[in-house]
Amino acid sequence: MTAVEDAPPLGFDPFHPAFQADPYAHYRPLRESSPVYRSPSAVWVLSRHADCMEVLRDNNFGHYDDSGQHVGMNGAVGDLSFLTMDPPDHTRLRGLVSKAFTAKVVRSLRPRVQELVDELLAGLRGRTEVDLISEFAHPLPVKVISEMLGVPAADQDRFTDWSNALARGLDPEFLLTPQQLAWRNEAKAEFDDYFRGLIELRRAEPAEDLLSGLVAAEQDGVVLTEQELLDTLTLLLVAGHETTVNLIANGTLALLRNPDQFEVLRANPDRAPEAVEELLRYDPPVQLTMRVAKSEVRLGCQLIKRNDLVMALIGAANRDPEVFEDPDRLDLLRPAGRQLAFGQGIHFCLGAPLARLEGQLALAGLVRAFPEMRLLDEHPTYRENLVLRGLAALHVGLG
Ligand code: HEM
Repeated sequence: MTAVEDAPPLGFDPFHPAFQADPYAHYRPLRESSPVYRSPSAVWVLSRHADCMEVLRDNNFGHYDDSGQHVGMNGAVGDLSFLTMDPPDHTRLRGLVSKAFTAKVVRSLRPRVQELVDELLAGLRGRTEVDLISEFAHPLPVKVISEMLGVPAADQDRFTDWSNALARGLDPEFLLTPQQLAWRNEAKAEFDDYFRGLIELRRAEPAEDLLSGLVAAEQDGVVLTEQELLDTLTLLLVAGHETTVNLIANGTLALLRNPDQFEVLRANPDRAPEAVEELLRYDPPVQLTMRVAKSEVRLGCQLIKRNDLVMALIGAANRDPEVFEDPDRLDLLRPAGRQLAFGQGIHFCLGAPLARLEGQLALAGLVRAFPEMRLLDEHPTYRENLVLRGLAALHVGLG
């Protein structure tokens, strides 16, 4: 059975268990037969590295069509989140927070992230079996981004369900049920209410956190409206952990399924940066992103018309044999390539340095602390998301 025979609605069935277990086996025939594929849902599905790269770099592809309609992953974190904005608004809003995520700032966070990794690992010692997601991969990025933003630790459990609803809501709207859309909107309203309370607290008493910095900017009234502030906070909180949890968990799963590579990382913790790049390439937490064509563009032998929707399959691009030799092989010492897990162009992941740091410290720490770790469930279940690829649970034996 090939992906194309599966037909619907993208050239593959994103919610079929076989697809969730191994989407790459479904992308391959699509890339080989129709790399620029016009799907039944009238979306151009791109599975070649070169085409994905071109779309992400070319500002003729954006998030608003020429009638001003917002398209694709519409509204998941509010229409005003800069993730799905075009310049000049995108430039203005990204500029307000980008200083907090530079490589230099992130380097200064290293001791604190290491401390959190060590604390979480210490909590696992003496245990024989754990769900690595709920006890390690999820709490780490939640704690890190919450501390950066200034979200109190006591509140962190409150937003798990809202965040899940928004993560699901990142999927293209034509793949969501009315109920999922309703949950997404309710979750966003809950986040807005929650952040309004925190904003009031910081207005009265500013602190050394990103929230206070944004509140100060908003008080100018020129650079940021209240809704833009709320949407930016939600974006940072959700993007800051819903992806990194999957880097850590997908990465651990890949290492457990490739014991020789587990051993490579265990024996060479200083090679964690290369290891993380390869794990991001091999099983990227963000599988795709959407754009709309603002003018007519030729991709391969297809003509993309103005206002056509385009889906760049990052997961497929990262396995393109034109760019990566033997792409289905996990090789932690592979020379650094042009993997697209963090996107490209003006929307290149703002949190990439932070995600890399967390991934490196978490994975190197984990294999060192538990060299005998093993999978308890050979076929773990995935969450029902298409854009974000992640496991519902990862049960492992530790000793
Ligand atoms: C392994 C973890 C992560 C992965 C794989 C990832 C992936 C991505 C990708 C692919 C994009 C571009 C989406 C597009 O072009 O449509 C993106 C954007 C973004 N990411 Fe990440 N991300 C990760 C972690 C983080 C973290 C820790 C943060 C921290 C706040 C973050 C914040 C953002 C933001 C704010 C954007 C929007 C950038 C823009 O539109 O200019 N991400 N991320």
